[in-house]
Amino acid sequence: MDKQLENVYDPEEFNKTGHELVELLTEYLRQAKNQEIQAINWKEPADQYEFWKNFQPENNDPIDLFKNIVDRSIHIHHPKYMGHQLCPPAPLSALTGLLGELVNNGMAIYEMGPAGTAIEKVIIEKLAEKIGFETGGDGYITSGGTIGNLTAMLAARQNAVESDIWEDGVSERLGIMVSSEAHYSVDRALRIMGFGAAGIIKIPVNDDFCLDTELLEEYYNSAGKKGIKVIAVVGCAPSTSTGMYDDLELIAEFCRLKKLWFHVDGAHGGGAIFSNKYKPLLKGMEYADSVVIDGHKMLMTPALMTFVMFKNKDVSYSTFNQKAQYLWEKSQDEEWFNLARRTIECTKLMMSIKFYSLLLIYGEEIFDKSVTHLYNLGKEFAYKIKQRKNFELALEPHSNIVCFRYHKSGASDKKLDEINSTIRNNLLKTGEFYIVQTTLNDRVYLRTTIMNPATTPDIFEELLDSIEVCYEMV
Ligand SMILES: Cc1ncc(COP(=O)(O)O)c(C=O)c1O
Repeated sequence: MDKQLENVYDPEEFNKTGHELVELLTEYLRQAKNQEIQAINWKEPADQYEFWKNFQPENNDPIDLFKNIVDRSIHIHHPKYMGHQLCPPAPLSALTGLLGELVNNGMAIYEMGPAGTAIEKVIIEKLAEKIGFETGGDGYITSGGTIGNLTAMLAARQNAVESDIWEDGVSERLGIMVSSEAHYSVDRALRIMGFGAAGIIKIPVNDDFCLDTELLEEYYNSAGKKGIKVIAVVGCAPSTSTGMYDDLELIAEFCRLKKLWFHVDGAHGGGAIFSNKYKPLLKGMEYADSVVIDGHKMLMTPALMTFVMFKNKDVSYSTFNQKAQYLWEKSQDEEWFNLARRTIECTKLMMSIKFYSLLLIYGEEIFDKSVTHLYNLGKEFAYKIKQRKNFELALEPHSNIVCFRYHKSGASDKKLDEINSTIRNNLLKTGEFYIVQTTLNDRVYLRTTIMNPATTPDIFEELLDSIEVCYEMV
């Protein structure tokens, strides 16, 4: 073998670099925890690009490369990271991810992931039990909530029409009803599926930013009059912008009466089924035909890891009615162990092991502790915002997503939009905190998602103080 090629695969080389990498990441975790680094080391995209285009590691040492990647990445483990809904992954889960990357089992068929496939079945059964599907339920793991929602919508469509969509295509005009606050992945899934704008029936939200269930009947009838056959309703658990949970029980009842598919997008907060305190927010999810839950949001795994769950076991086998005879042993039989029969992916990462290691080593209580703590922090932050003179809380939060804005009495809404956008940009550039912004009722709000159990009430005070300082700079 070529000498260099031999070195690439040298176990001793891996051992040396691996130890140094773990040292580096340990230092990153320490520094993030003690706030010795910034939440984000902001650089303009063009500067970042120039840096990497010209980058050469010192002495061709991979550790120099790794160090620069860590420095120039957003630091999700920092307690002042409170932006998007990505969790600081539990280090054990990240290490399991490294294991998966190295053994690199492809997971499409059993032989290409014997352990990962069986582990996937074990945790799917656990999820189905937690959701409380009376019929037992089934499902699989896929690469992210976006693909999860698309897969569930495909199943809903296959279930709703008489014809074989794979063979005959779709001839009817179909529609799905969804909150106007739903994540854009639902809209995107339906457009990919050819529903067009008219097939995405957006139901306005009520004052709490939850789908207004009183409007379901009216929008359903109006779609029918336009010749659109409504096949499903999507409930948000919760919606992305505000973190507010739709009334899943009422949506489930509407779907039952109209014989519609009921999908719950629980990408962010479906994980609350593990929280004894907050699982009532998901009441009604047990009636759903399909549910999506991201592990990389509230269940402490690195991205990506998404559960797609079905109430009816058979549905997950009929979504993709395609034949790939060279892969399957028996094309029509249920083969739980040949996962690509049911997933969009052919090859997929060994995602199951990242959740299983946490479940096994820490027990399911760890998810209860994490979700409950983070949702409690959401309430605590909201309380602190209400105590401050120059701040306005958008909504009493259901979850760990808290929206608010800086408010100066006498300032017009337009001026407040400008102030809050500038505050958020200044915070980003300073890098001490990472928060984002959103638009509610056409107005700009600051948006935080408290993802790190190490974030403290004192940090909330510091954030509000920093916003006051940023205001002075506007
Ligand atoms: C409610 C909801 N659904 C779906 C998604 C998309 O999930 P992913 O980013 O895993 O593709 C998100 C992402 O933020 C979300 O909040």
